[in-house]
Amino acid sequence: MAILLYNGEFGADDWYLALQAQLPDETIYIYPDVPDKAEVEFAAVWNIPPGELISCPNLRAILLLGAGGDFLMRETSLPPVPIVRLVDETVVFDMTQYCLYWVAHYYRRFDRYALNQANSHWQRVEYPPIERYRVGILGLGTIGTQIAGALSTLGYSVSAWVQTQRDAKQIKLYSGAGQFQEFMANLDVLINVLPLTNETHGFLDIERLKMLPKEAKVINISRGAVIDDEALRSVLDSGHLGAAVLDVFDQEPLPPDHWAWRHPRVCITPHASGQTYARSAVKGLVANIQRIKRGEQPFPLYDQSKGY
Ligand code: GLV
Repeated sequence: MAILLYNGEFGADDWYLALQAQLPDETIYIYPDVPDKAEVEFAAVWNIPPGELISCPNLRAILLLGAGGDFLMRETSLPPVPIVRLVDETVVFDMTQYCLYWVAHYYRRFDRYALNQANSHWQRVEYPPIERYRVGILGLGTIGTQIAGALSTLGYSVSAWVQTQRDAKQIKLYSGAGQFQEFMANLDVLINVLPLTNETHGFLDIERLKMLPKEAKVINISRGAVIDDEALRSVLDSGHLGAAVLDVFDQEPLPPDHWAWRHPRVCITPHASGQTYARSAVKGLVANIQRIKRGEQPFPLYDQSKGY
C-alpha cells in the first residue's frame, strides 16, 4: 500500500517528513512521481490536477491537505471513496489573528498614518468607540465562527450573514437573500470566509459590492473567485471601496501583471492568512488513515454536493 502526497505549489516535503515519522512502514509517493498507481490506497492531496485521483484503482480515501476542497470541483469523476476534510486548529487560529490585525489596522487608522508619514505629517486621527466599529463575516463555518468570536470578545460590533437562520452568541445574524442588503449596508469591514462552490462563484459581484457603505473595506481570506475581479477593481477605482486586503486569487500565484499588485487601495498577501503546517496538521491525517484501516469511518467528511 502507498500514500500519494501532493500539496500544490506549496510543496509536500514537510508533509513527507511528518508522515514518514508517524507511519514509518508506509510507502509515500510525492506526485507526480508515482511508479504504480495501483498501490495507492490513500491520497493526501491539495490542488492535485484533475483526473489523477480517478486513475488510482485501489484508492480507499481522499484526505484533504487544506481547509478548502474546491479544487475537487474541477474533477469530472471521482472515485467513490470518503473525502476527509482537514480541520487544523492552528490554521483557524492564524486566520483569526490575520483578521484581527487587519481590522485593527483600519479601525485605528494605521493606513492613514502610513500616508501621513510619507508626508512628514504629524496628526492624530480620531476613531470611534470600538463597539461602533462594525465588522461583518460572510461564511459562518468553523473559521468564520472563530473570527467572529475573537472580534466580538475584543468589543467590535460583529455581524454575520448566513443562508438560513440559526443561533449565534454575541453576533448579530442576518439571514437569507432578503437580509443581505441590510447586512452589507451596516459594515465598516467585510470579511469573506465563504467556501468556493458553484453557488458562491462570483457571489460578490458589482451589485453586491456596491451595497457596502462608501469607504468600507473588504478582507478576502477564502477564495479569490468568490469576488468578481473586475467588479472589485471598479469599486476600488471609483473610491466606493476604501480598501481591499486580498490573500487569495482566482489565479495563484498572482501573475506579475495583475492590476491588484499596483493598486493603491489593495494590500496583498500570498495565500498566507493561515498556512497549514504539517507539524500540527499531520496528527489528524494519520488518525484518519488509522481509523480507515481499522474499518472505522474517518471524520470530518467533506460533502461533495455542498462543496465544503
Ligand atoms: C487553503 O486555502 C486551504 O484550503 O487550506
